[in-house]
Amino acid sequence: MGELLLVLDEGTTSTRAMLFAPSGECLGSRSAELTQHYPAPGLVEHDAAEIWNRTLACAKAMVDKAGGAGKIAAIGITNQRETIVFWDKTTGEPLAPAIVWQDRRSAALCREWREAGEEPGVQARTGLLLDPYFSGTKIAWAMANWPQLKQAGSRLAIGTIESWLVWKLTANENSGGLHITDATNASRTLLMGLGSGGWSDGLLDLFSAPRDALPEIVDCAGRFGATKLFGGEIPICGLAGDQQAATIGQACFAKGDTKATYGTGAFVLTNAGPAPPASKHRLLATVLWQLGGRRTYAIEGSVFVAGSLIQWLRDAIGLIETAPETEALARSVPDNGGVYLVPALSGLGAPWWEPDARASLSGLSFSSTHAHIVRAALEAMAHQSHDLKTAFAADGADWARLRVDGGMVTNDWMAQDLADMLDIPVDRPDFTETTALGAAMLAGLGCGLFSGLEEAAQMRGPGTTFEPKLGADARNARIEGWNAAVERVVR
Ligand code: G3P
Repeated sequence: MGELLLVLDEGTTSTRAMLFAPSGECLGSRSAELTQHYPAPGLVEHDAAEIWNRTLACAKAMVDKAGGAGKIAAIGITNQRETIVFWDKTTGEPLAPAIVWQDRRSAALCREWREAGEEPGVQARTGLLLDPYFSGTKIAWAMANWPQLKQAGSRLAIGTIESWLVWKLTANENSGGLHITDATNASRTLLMGLGSGGWSDGLLDLFSAPRDALPEIVDCAGRFGATKLFGGEIPICGLAGDQQAATIGQACFAKGDTKATYGTGAFVLTNAGPAPPASKHRLLATVLWQLGGRRTYAIEGSVFVAGSLIQWLRDAIGLIETAPETEALARSVPDNGGVYLVPALSGLGAPWWEPDARASLSGLSFSSTHAHIVRAALEAMAHQSHDLKTAFAADGADWARLRVDGGMVTNDWMAQDLADMLDIPVDRPDFTETTALGAAMLAGLGCGLFSGLEEAAQMRGPGTTFEPKLGADARNARIEGWNAAVERVVR
C-alpha cells in the first residue's frame, strides 16, 4: 500500500488537489478556479457539475504525480461549508444550481421564522442562528421554489459539497454512490441536533428537508468507501468542513486553542471541549471533529468577507492589480487617514448577523488616496477579528493567542496589524495551507497511518510569531473609528 495522502480541498473560489507525504511535506498541488454565478444582488450560485469536473481533473493530476493510485494510502476531503447541492440519485446529475453559503435568498424566510419565535429553539438544538448562511434555510427556499426537486421524489439527493464529491467518487455505471456527510459539515445545516449528532425530525420539518434525500452522518476519519476512478482503488478516509480542518491543521487540540483562517471569509474557531457550548453573544456552536462517535465542539465566529474584499477591489473596482501589492500600499501611508471600510458586501455575519447590511466606505477627504482605501480594507480584517474577540470574551472564551492561516496572512503587514489590534501574539505557520493539512491528518488517521490526532500533528512545520507593538491610545482610537463606521451600517 502507498503512504501518500491525497487531499481534495474544495473552497469557494477554487478547487484544489494536494499531495502530502506522511511527514507533512507537500509534494504537489493543482488547482482550478470555480465560476461564481451572481444571478441577482445577494444571490451566489455554483455549478456542482463544474465543481466535480474540475476537482476530478485536479485529483487526476496529483494521482499521476504520485505515480499512480497504488502510491496513495487515502483521500481526505475538505470543503466550503453550508453550500448545498441537489442531485438525482439515478443519474448522478445536479437538479439545480448549488446555493452557496454567501447567498442571501432565504433572508425573508429567516425573518419569518424569527418573527414566529423559532430562533431560541433552533439555537438551543443546533448551536446556529436563523441566517441565510446555513444550509437548512437554503433547502427550505429551494424546496418551495424549484418544482423539479419535489418532482424527483425518492430520486432526490441533498448534500453539502463533501457529500457530493464522495457520491461522485464512489458511483459507478451499475450503482449510485455512497451518500454520507461528516458531523462537522452536518453541524452547519441547521438540521442536526448538536448534542445528538443525528438529524432532528423537528428541524427537518421546519426546513422542509426530506429525510430520505439526506446523507448518513459519519465520523471525520475512518474507511468510508473507496474510489476506483484513478486506475486502482483508493479509500476515502478523512472528511471535514474547511474551517474545522484548518483548526485541526493548526493542532488546536486543547480547550481554548484558537485559530483564524483568512480565506474568502474569515472564520475563528475556539476548541470548546467535549460538551456543546452555548453562546450568549451571537457566536455559533459547532462540531469541531467527531472521532469514534465522540464529538469535540467549537465556538465559531464567522465573518463573511475577508479575501473576497481584496478580490473585489481588484476585479470589480480595479483599485489594485494584484493582491500582494496591498502590503506595500498599506505600508506607504502612516495611518488610515480616517478612512474605514466596513465590508458588508453580503451582509454582516458574527456577531452582527445583519443579512441586509451593505458595505460602506467612510471618512474620505481630499487627502485620501487609494493607499488609504487599501489600508482600510486590510485594517477591516483586524477590526472584524477584534469584534469577534470581544464576543468570545463575553462568552467566557477569550483568546490568549491566535493561530492564523489562509491566503491573506502571507501579508506580513496584516499579520502584524492583527497582533496589534487584538493585543495578543499571533502565530503563523510557514505552510499556511492548514486546511489541506488538517484534511491530510484526518485521512492519515482514518487509514491507520497515525494512531491519533497528536501523532498526526507531526505533519505540521515551523512558523513565525507576531508580537503586539501598538500603544493603547492608537489602538483605542482605531477601534472607536471602526465602531462608529459599523454603527452606521447596522443601524
Ligand atoms: O462557511 C464557509 C466556509 O467554509 C468557506 O470557506 O475557505 O471558502 O473561505 P472559504
